[in-house]
Formats: sequence, C-alpha cells, structure tokens
Amino acid sequence: MGILPILALLALAVVTISNVGATELDISFYEFSCPDALAIVQRGVHSAMQEDRRMPASLLRLHFHDCFVNGCDGSNLLDDRPGFVGEKTATPNLNSARGFNVIDKIKQQLEEICPETVSCADIVAIAARDSVFLSGGPFWDVELGRRDALTTSKNAATNAIPRPTFNVPQLIASFNAVGLDEKDVVSLSGSHTIGKARCTSFQARLYNQGNSGRPDPSLERSYLAELQHRCPQNGDGNVTSPLDPCTPAVFDNQYYKDVMAGRGLLLSDQVLDTTPGTTLQLVEAYAHDQGKFFHDFAASMLKMSSHHVLSSNHGEVRRNCRIPNAENH
Ligand code: HEM
Repeated sequence: MGILPILALLALAVVTISNVGATELDISFYEFSCPDALAIVQRGVHSAMQEDRRMPASLLRLHFHDCFVNGCDGSNLLDDRPGFVGEKTATPNLNSARGFNVIDKIKQQLEEICPETVSCADIVAIAARDSVFLSGGPFWDVELGRRDALTTSKNAATNAIPRPTFNVPQLIASFNAVGLDEKDVVSLSGSHTIGKARCTSFQARLYNQGNSGRPDPSLERSYLAELQHRCPQNGDGNVTSPLDPCTPAVFDNQYYKDVMAGRGLLLSDQVLDTTPGTTLQLVEAYAHDQGKFFHDFAASMLKMSSHHVLSSNHGEVRRNCRIPNAENH
C-alpha cells in the first residue's frame, strides 16, 4: 500500500492537541528554513517501515530514551569514540536500542537540501510522531526548534531510564524527574502496543519473581507457558517477544486489554493493573476507550518531547547525528 491510502485511512484517528507549556518550541519552526523537513522525515519513516515492520516501535523508543536523559537533545545518537562513552552501551540501550541508521539516512537527505538546519533531536521527535501515526495511532503537531547536545554520559542513561522491574512508585518517580506524572506513566506505557522485548527484560517473571522461586502469579497461565517456551531458563536472552501479542504492529488500545487479562509482558506493564489506585483506573479507562487513550497519549508525548530542551543558542545542530560538529572534520 502506498503512503497516501495509508494516510487517508488513518486520518480518522487524527487528534488535535496543543501544548500550552512549551514556549521555546514552535510547530512552524522550519517553515521557511527547511519547508520540506517534515515530509522528508515522514517519507524516511515510511520507507523504513516497509523494510522492517518493527522500525516504528524502535524509533518511538529512541525518542523516549532521548528525552529521559537530560531532555530531548539527540544525546542518545552520539557514538562512543576514544575518550568518550555515550549512552549506547548503557543497560537500557545495549543490544536493544535500534533505528540509528534510519535517522542517519533522513539526516543525510536533510543536510543535502538544508545544511545544518534541522537538528537530530527534532528529526527523532518527528520520526516518533510519524511512527505512531503510520502504525494507526493518533497524529499531533510536533513542536520544533530543539538543538543537539554537545555531550552526554552513560551514567545519566543508566540512571534516568525506568527499568522493566520497577513497581508503580518507582515508575512514577522516574517520570516525575522529567516533569511527567502518573497519568503520563500509564498513557505513554501504551507505546508497548507496538514493538518487542528481549527475554532478558522479563525472564525473572517467568521463573523466579522477586526471588520467590515461582513465576509471577499475575501472569495469565497460557501466556506464561507460551513465554516459558520462548524463553527457557538459561536460554538466549536476546530472543524477542511482541509487547502486545494480539496486534503487535498496530498502534491501538489492545495493550491495556492485554494488561487487564494478565498479558502484560514486562513487570512494569503488569503492575499498572495489579497496584490499586490511579494507574489501575486509567488502564481500565484506556482499555474501554481508545479515543481517550489517543488523546491522552498525544498530550503526554507533547509534554515528554518539550521537557528541558536546548533551544536558541544552546547546543548545536549536528551535521552528523553520531558526532559533535567540533569533531566532525
Ligand atoms: C514506563 C516505563 C517504561 C519501561 C520500564 C520500559 C521498558 C522497556 C523495555 C525493557 C523494552 C524492551 C527492551 C528490550 O528488551 O530490548 C521496551 C520496549 C519498548 N518501549 Fe518501553 N518502557 C517504558 C516506557 C516507554 C515509553 C514512555 C515509551 C515511548 C514513549 C516506550 C516505548 C517502547 C517501545 C515502542 C518499545 C519497543 C521497541 C522495539 O521494538 O524496538 N516505552 N520498553
């Protein structure tokens, strides 16, 4: 299917949200300096997903991992080099973060038509939105004008990105640290309606939850059996399973239905429904009302994407997303 029919099909899902909080960013930031920027990113995402159905999920996660570590500044795109260890080898990213080549390809095209204009951080923010939309999810106007970080650290990524073993208070605390709240935890966790996780990210739940010597009792029995078959004890931790086993490549509210049925893949997914309180109420609300999920998801993405960004004369617009300009000769 070409891009136009897909867009026509998905236009039904368009949600319009405006973010009153972010004053430094502007949806028409590239209107004159690079008018084709948004179209180029969308074409890049679309062609990448034709080759790899998982790519939209990976691009969405790249933006999340960027924003949680010192704000959305393209810091997670920097390669390690002599004397510099960046975020790529931090536990949440190692053998897991994907999509760097897709961002590189889009960046190269943009450098050809508008050199040193569109930041890597903005490319990832637009690519995340397009990934959601082209997978059947909501559309929102991306606020633009972020600049790219000059440096970063592995430690920052290790500490700031929430872990799949977190309980609800720990999830809320890690979101609070980047200006997000409990509702954002639940709506943004809905990203796990697409993409995959490795056995290593949920293995403990299958055999020895919380050192109990038993599987997590909140896992539905046949799902547990399926996952144990896929991820045997001492098996290959890099084998992957879909985060949403029912509709793994469609951005919908099936994730919340999975979680309510004991089919949340990560512990951090399942606890949203097994912990009494607000998160449980929101899981149920989103499971019953996809429109509410789409609306809240878009609003939370806008919040996450605009927290603590570099703008005006801070940072730089990298020519190559993997290397700071000063070292790119
Ligand atoms: C609530 C806290 C969160 C935790 C603990 C968490 C953890 C994880 C883990 C462990 C994986 C699988 C990684 C692997 O095994 O290789 C994953 C995948 C994913 N996460 Fe999250 N995540 C969280 C929130 C988010 C948010 C806020 C987003 C986006 C806004 C997101 C988007 C994704 C996507 C799309 C994937 C699949 C990526 C792919 O297939 O390449 N996650 N997450």
